[in-house]
Amino acid sequence: MSPLLEVEELRRSFSGGRTLFGPRKPDVRAVDGVSFTLGRGETLGLVGETGSGKSTLGRLVLRLIEPSAGRVRFEGEDVTAASSSGLRAMRPRMQMVFQDPYGSLDPRMTAAEIIAEPMTAHGVRRAEAMRRAADMLGRVGLSPAMAARYPNEFSGGQRQRIGIARAIALDPALVVLDEPVSALDVSVQAQILNLLADIQARSGVSFLFIAHDLAVVRHVSDRVAVMYLGRVVEMAPRDALYGAPRHPYTVSLLSAVPRPDPAKERAKARIRPIGEIGSAAALPSGCRFHPRCPRARLVAARGVDAVQAAGTRLPRACVEQDPQLSPAGGGAHLAACHFPDEA
Ligand SMILES: Nc1ncnc2c1ncn2[C@@H]1O[C@H](COP(=O)(O)OP(=O)(O)OP(=O)(O)O)[C@@H](O)[C@H]1O
Ligand code: SF4
Ligand SMILES: [Mg+2]
Repeated sequence: MSPLLEVEELRRSFSGGRTLFGPRKPDVRAVDGVSFTLGRGETLGLVGETGSGKSTLGRLVLRLIEPSAGRVRFEGEDVTAASSSGLRAMRPRMQMVFQDPYGSLDPRMTAAEIIAEPMTAHGVRRAEAMRRAADMLGRVGLSPAMAARYPNEFSGGQRQRIGIARAIALDPALVVLDEPVSALDVSVQAQILNLLADIQARSGVSFLFIAHDLAVVRHVSDRVAVMYLGRVVEMAPRDALYGAPRHPYTVSLLSAVPRPDPAKERAKARIRPIGEIGSAAALPSGCRFHPRCPRARLVAARGVDAVQAAGTRLPRACVEQDPQLSPAGGGAHLAACHFPDEA
């Protein structure tokens, strides 16, 4: 059986616009050649710093925005080539939950109307949709008696439950969750994550779970993909990625997760990436991580063919050749690094 979702070499650039009197700014390559698959009932976590292209990728997968290139197949059908009526027919099966539970719900609609809306849009009669919406409130741990309340009468966590109820009302096969718990308190986060796990166990829905919090992603994911400046630089089953990361960017992200042990706390300071994340509008040559890569500096110091770049000596391969996502460390573990075994 083919995977639920197949993403091939997906790309999306945004026009850089113009400066007031100067030349046109370069385009932003927000998603720059991303491929992955997602199985039925599987959760793929997608992590990366702000601006790495996670939300753009999530929207491209559902074709809420148009790709510049590449292809998405969902349940065997070509999403990228679908006509508007074809896409409309697929919509109930692929849904999205947004980060901001305050901004993403229409304040003029009641909870039941918000949940019922996608059902009526796909032909369910209003009375039936409203009845099912009250049911859905129960399924996400709210009282059906809250059906007539407006979003401002709910807490952040309750609003996110309404957003989830709306997304799952039509029994989708795929839900893209874009930072669904980032705006919530830690205790509320745990409740929402448990709710999502429960929904998945009952329905077999697949999740593309976007977050910048590695602890949250670890909790929910079967596999994890790490994004850096528009690319997936590492992808692996959860335990392999957290236990033995192969890409130095992943190593640095993991070392930034607070640890209780002071010795490990000191060790982590040494493997931070150098400087700030660059811009997707001015990508470095070769490996896009090379200006920040601590491993490249170590490898160069050991005497491989090196060149002067980013104010230091770096391996020529890192500066001149763009590393592709390739097997590293066995099994389904992939990393885009010329020196994946240097961990
Ligand atoms: N509509 C747009 N127009 C122009 N540039 C955009 C647009 N949407 C995103 N970008 C740019 O594309 C890049 C990726 O943005 P995106 O929102 O996908 O990142 P992200 O990983 O989701 O970040 P965050 O963690 O902050 O949500 C950024 O440089 C961003 O400024
Ligand atoms: S290819 Fe070179 S610069 Fe890129 S991550 Fe690997 S070691 Fe670092
Ligand atoms: Mg985002």
